[in-house]
Amino acid sequence: MTTNTVAEGVDLMRQYRVGQGILAAGADLKALRGASFSLRSGRTLAVVGESGCGKSTLARLVTLIERPTSGRLLLDGVDATAASGAVLKSLRRTVQIVFQDPYGSLNPRRKVGAILEEPLAINTRLSRADRAAAARDMMARVGLRPEHYDRYPHMFSGGQRQRIAIARALMLRPKLVVLDEPVSALDVSIQAQVLNLLVDLQEEYDLAYLFISHDLSVVRHFADEVMVMYLGRAVEQGPRDAIFDAPQHPYTRALLSSTPVADPTRRGEKIKLTGELPSPIAPPPGCAFNPRCRYANDRCRIEQPELDLSAGRLVACHAVAEGRLEAQGI
Ligand SMILES: Nc1ncnc2c1ncn2[C@@H]1O[C@H](COP(=O)(O)OP(=O)(O)O)[C@@H](O)[C@H]1O
Ligand SMILES: [Mg+2]
Repeated sequence: MTTNTVAEGVDLMRQYRVGQGILAAGADLKALRGASFSLRSGRTLAVVGESGCGKSTLARLVTLIERPTSGRLLLDGVDATAASGAVLKSLRRTVQIVFQDPYGSLNPRRKVGAILEEPLAINTRLSRADRAAAARDMMARVGLRPEHYDRYPHMFSGGQRQRIAIARALMLRPKLVVLDEPVSALDVSIQAQVLNLLVDLQEEYDLAYLFISHDLSVVRHFADEVMVMYLGRAVEQGPRDAIFDAPQHPYTRALLSSTPVADPTRRGEKIKLTGELPSPIAPPPGCAFNPRCRYANDRCRIEQPELDLSAGRLVACHAVAEGRLEAQGI
């Protein structure tokens, strides 16, 4: 199996003009303040962080729903930020998205068969019979039964609806699937079934996944790489085991402390996350996490830390870089 790079983000930024009115000048909300990553086929990059940290914004950029304010996005080796016309159209086929809420993304007035065949009708020259055959084949692969072909989305459970959304995303054989909180709305027992399905499909189609979740425990057994985001920036990024077994950034440690751990004897200081996520319109100067970080000092309040290699992953933290945490025996 070839493992080529299917997506690469270089310092992706996205801001939105908000609060603009007749009298108000408006302000720039910095939803994403520079995200970089590289993702190969068959691999999963998990993007985690609290609500509002910019995960869905990143998803919209990578799936070409929106353009970045700055930075570069390469899909399948092609610069998507500069693409237009036929090139852009073909790039759109290589990347698909599955949202948290399939209710909102599945047309309630169309039957499952029609929902799955629509991308083929728009993008291919397949005959009606071939489209129907492809839809039925994909239904079987995602665990839907033949009789479901003629049913409407509202007739399904949440887990089954997510199977429909996944099937639709795969109809055009994308190389990259962005999964934006795909199991967050499902019961825990159903979550595992859908995650297992995603793992099987990844193997079968050699898919790259950008898997977005606010819940670290969901990505634990699933991700190859993890990007922990805080207020629009990655604070820690690297191999799954490095991040889960020995998290370095105080924010990552806090997120992990709040997730149930299988092994209660595991050592490591528990860090409790207090306070609220600051406004992305006016991020705190210095390290954006400093108001909530008990290791913050004056440098952290003034100088923004950059991602730096530390113990096999990237970390943006002055305290880690200076060894201040070790000095406190953490
Ligand atoms: N279209 C938009 N206009 C203005 N602000 C937006 C828009 N989309 C997202 N935001 C803001 O950008 C920030 C990041 O949002 P989002 O990417 O949805 O975060 P997440 O998916 O991690 O919860 C939030 O503060 C959100 O309110
Ligand atoms: Mg989101």
